[in-house]
Formats: sequence, C-alpha cells, structure tokens
Amino acid sequence: MDCDEFRSRGKEMVEYICSYMQNLESRRVTPNIEPGYLRKLIPEQAPDAPEAWEHIMEDVEKKIMPGVTHWQHPRFHAYFPSGNSYPSILGDMLAAGVGCIGFSWASSPALTELETIVLDWLGKAIGLPDQFLAFKEGSRGGGVIQTSASECVLVSMLAARAQALKRLKHQHPFVEEGLLLSKLMAYCSREAHSCVEKAAMICFVKLRILEPDEKSSLRGKTLMMAMEEDETMGLIPFFVSTTLGTTSCCSFDNLTEIGQVCNKFPCVWLHVDGAYAGNAFICPELKYLLSGIEYADSFNTNPNKWLLTNFDCSTYWVRDRIRLTSALVVDPLYLQHGYSDATIDYRHWGVPLSRRFRSLKLWFVLRSYGISGLQKYIRNHIRLAKKFEGLVLKDRRFEICNEVKLALVCFRLKGSDKLNEKLLSNINASGKLHMVPSNVNDKYVIRFCVVAANAEEADVDHAWEVIRDFADELLEVNIAEKEAELHDEVFDLLERKKKETLAHKRSFFVRMVSDPKIYNPSIAKSTPSTRRHLTEQIDSPGSPDGNVTVQPPLSASWISWPLAFLFQGITEDGTTSDLPIRFRHLDTKVRLKASGKGNNSPSPDASDSSRSPKRTPASSRRTSPNNETRQK
Ligand SMILES: Cc1ncc(COP(=O)(O)O)c(C=O)c1O
Repeated sequence: MDCDEFRSRGKEMVEYICSYMQNLESRRVTPNIEPGYLRKLIPEQAPDAPEAWEHIMEDVEKKIMPGVTHWQHPRFHAYFPSGNSYPSILGDMLAAGVGCIGFSWASSPALTELETIVLDWLGKAIGLPDQFLAFKEGSRGGGVIQTSASECVLVSMLAARAQALKRLKHQHPFVEEGLLLSKLMAYCSREAHSCVEKAAMICFVKLRILEPDEKSSLRGKTLMMAMEEDETMGLIPFFVSTTLGTTSCCSFDNLTEIGQVCNKFPCVWLHVDGAYAGNAFICPELKYLLSGIEYADSFNTNPNKWLLTNFDCSTYWVRDRIRLTSALVVDPLYLQHGYSDATIDYRHWGVPLSRRFRSLKLWFVLRSYGISGLQKYIRNHIRLAKKFEGLVLKDRRFEICNEVKLALVCFRLKGSDKLNEKLLSNINASGKLHMVPSNVNDKYVIRFCVVAANAEEADVDHAWEVIRDFADELLEVNIAEKEAELHDEVFDLLERKKKETLAHKRSFFVRMVSDPKIYNPSIAKSTPSTRRHLTEQIDSPGSPDGNVTVQPPLSASWISWPLAFLFQGITEDGTTSDLPIRFRHLDTKVRLKASGKGNNSPSPDASDSSRSPKRTPASSRRTSPNNETRQK
C-alpha cells in the first residue's frame, strides 16, 4: 500500500468505523457462534501472495464481525466500560502513524514530556495530592501511563518488595535474600481484583486476603489485626493494596482507616487501585470517595475504562518516583543518553522497555471534551444507574445488592442463586442484553453497568423491560414447575402412604396374633422410631459423641498460594500445619500436603479437585478440616 492508497483506504476505514458505530443497534450485542468458529473460516497458513484490500475488508464483515462482542453497543451492560471516543481513536491513529517508541526521553522527547504533562493535568483534575504531581515545587512524585491496572499493581508490589528487602538487608546483612523474601506479607481485601493475587504470584510473596465488612469495604481494624498477628509470627508486612470501586460491586475500602494503620508499620507501601471509579473523581461532588489518598504511595485509574479513552491507557502516579524506579532500573550503554540526570526515562517506571505514544489520545480527549465535558459524561452514567436502581426497587420481586454510588448496579430476584443464574443465562442467550454476574455477600447477583458512551434513558428503560419480561417468564415457569413438582410429590406421598397402610395392616394382622406388644402399646416403653433416632446420632461418622464441633477461625482471611512453597507446612514445634490455600479464580480444591521429615517441598495437590462451595473463609473453616477449598 502506498501513500495514495493509504489516503483513500484510510477514508474508507473511517467511513466503516462511523457506519459501525451508527448501526451498532442492528447487531446482536453478543456473537452467536461456537468456540473454534473462526478456524473453519480462515486458511491454515498466511497467504504467500499479497491479497487485495477489498478481499480483506470483505472478510472483516463476513468472518470477524460475527465473532465480535460489541462493547460499545447500547445493550452492553457487562464488566466496566471500554473507553472509546472519536478524539481518542484519532489520537491512537496518530500515535500509530508516528510510530515512535518512548523508552527514554531521548528516544522521543515529546512522547515522554507530553506523558508527564498530561498525567499532571489528570492528577490535578482527579484531586491527587501535590506530592503525586511531577511539576509541583519540591515534589518527588509523578505519573506514567501503563498498559493495564494489573501492571500498575504489579509495579507497585515490585517497588514495595525492593524497598522492604533493601531495609531488611540493611538490618540483617548476612541473611540471604531468599529467606528475607519468605518473610514478606502483602494484604488486600477479598473484594480486590484478582490482579493483586497475580502480582503476588509473580513477586513470589505471600498475600493475605482479608474479609471486608458487610458493605464489602476493607476496614482498618481487620488489617491491623492481620498485620499484628503476622508480625508476632515473624512475618513482615510490606504492601497493602486497597480498592476504590471494586470490580464485583463498586465498593470502597476505608482508605483513611487503612492509611492510619499502614502508618504504624515501617516501610509498608500503600497502593490504591481505582481502575474504574478513579475516573469519576474529576467530579467535585465525588471527591469525597478519594479521602485518605494522602496516605497512599501510589494510585491508578484507567481512562481506558471510564474516561472515553481507548485501550490501553492506565494512568499511574507515585509519591516518590525514586522508590519506584530503583526497583526497576536497568541501564545498558545503548539506552543511555546525555540528559539522563535531568529527564524522565519511562523504561524505569514499568516492565516493558518499548512504549507507545499513548499520551496523545488522552491529550486529545482531555482537550476535545474539556474537564467539564468529561464530568458531564460521568454524571450522565451515574444518573442512568440511579434511574435503573429506582426501576428495580419499584418491583418487589427484585432487590438491590450494592450501594449505588457510581454507574454499577448489582441486583437480583429475591430467591435462590439458581433462579438468578437462570435469569441471567436466559437474557444473555437471547442476545438482547449482555450482563455478567458477581458475588456480593455470598449471593449470586447480576451486574448492570452503564457502559455506552452516549447512553440514554431509553436504553435503561429498554434494558429494564427486557429484564422484567425474562423475569415474568421465568417466574411463571418456575411457579408452574413448582406446582408440578408439588403435585408429583403429593401424588407419590399418597401412593406410598396407601401402600404402607396396606402393608402395615397386613403385617399388623399377622403380628397381632404373635406379638402382644403390637396391640397393647403400654407394653412398649420405647418406640422403635425413637430408638432408631438415638442410634443414628451415636453412629454418625462426623460426631462420635453426637455433638457438632465448631472450630473457630484463627482469623478471617485466606493466604494465596505462593505460601504453599514458602511456608514449609511445619510449625516451630515440629507439628504439621494445615494451611488453607486459596485458588480464588480456579474452581479447584487444593490441599497443602504438610511436609514431613525428608519432604521439604510441599506442593498444592490439585488432584483432589471438586467444585468449591461459595463460602466466606470463616464459614468454610468451620466446616470439615478436609475442606480446604475456598471460593472461586
Ligand atoms: C478494580 C480493578 N482493578 C484492576 C482491574 C484490572 O484491569 P486491567 O484489565 O487494566 O488489568 C480491574 C478490571 O476491571 C478492576 O475493576
């Protein structure tokens, strides 16, 4: 393709995108295909000879689009939004066109400098303390764009780990780093995103996953207890990850309480993950949700979720950039330049070396909409979520399961989890709406997120109509099924009763003549049924004395799997310890085999697998000691 053809194909592509956006409603929100559908449509090998552009574009519509989930569709209410807007698309297009790479200031000065400036712009708009801004007098902080929130959490943990190990090494110069590493403990809430767990796996540190309160908010007291408990066991708290706007129900950890706790422990890095909700803090009336940020060492939010900016664009700020970069710095000669001391080299701020010109699209968005335009967009989504909440509350068959502070509503039919699973799967299968479930306070709930950039009241009304229709149908079927079940049960019961009565009459007649106790009850002191009941209790395998023993939980938390390798499964007095190991996102039952003599490498035994029950850690610890499994 030469420049002239690019010019015309480019125009065609813009046309294609516009028509896609304008006609989205005519498509099913989710694809109606089976796994592997595309393999049947696409050749096994790349073409040897160049193909005509028209043929490629033809295949986009015929083969690719049928397998696309349309995240920008007005009927898409799943996950969180995938940011998108015309200024952002054009900014991304320009970045692709310029095609420069920004691992150092010298490798593309504008890339680095615009990124620092735009991050200061956004940081100010969000209301981050001055220490997080690069251009504030006396500040050691600054911002950077990462690929994802997962990466922000990972680099925070890496920095925290480096800081803690450095301090420990200073205190214990002759102790091996591996041993020091095995003492480090990170913390997060059960509601934290799974990326925290993944970061702990990569960093090879222990992660203690704590129980939030009934509003799904991690509290200072819970953290304090866990950290103190760990310190008495010789472990060293080094990292706390908190969430403002959790994925499952958009709850908020109590950052002020947590920050005050962290202050009591030397060298603990406090990270705040506001991947979705953080964007909303550009609205003055929502800044209260950020209170406690003054205690944080780092903060991230994803404009590629809720600020009209295309993926990837995860903005990340640190209070002290030296503490971050000293964990990640590598400096071969070929990457050095004459201004290293006076400029930012973003390769030291994250995992990859090469970096795209991502600040362009964010700059385009901030300038095209202005902060006021972005506030309007956020407020519109919140208003619509409130409207949806109101519609749900008016229908007494439903309940709301979260505090609707932003644009995520968690709701459910009053009834069983199974009923709600059925409702959601019926709706999703129809392709009329798309939503995903989550678990709030141990209940299966349906998440309704306002997602489409230009969402309107009519979209919410339509969604509610679809949900209500499916609920009507399901409840009707459910009642009919229940009635049928009941009818069958009553019929069976009557039949059984009839047979039993007949049999009883027959045997009574036969035995009456041979056993006087039968026809003279006063002879029978203890009825057979009472005797059976007592013996059943005594014979019960789980309770030899007939009583149920309830084990109180040590404390309400899980410990993520790297512990399996790091804790040796043996306590100081030589007895084996059965640690609960949690594979939150694998539906797998795992039991840590405590190592005995001659076996010092306990490993998760995944062979013992079954569906894990959805339980709180406290309640699951109270069950059988064999049930080491935790939640999905
Ligand atoms: C609170 C929170 N943190 C982290 C993530 C992970 O985001 P990413 O896909 O950018 O890694 C999500 C994703 O939805 C999230 O909601």
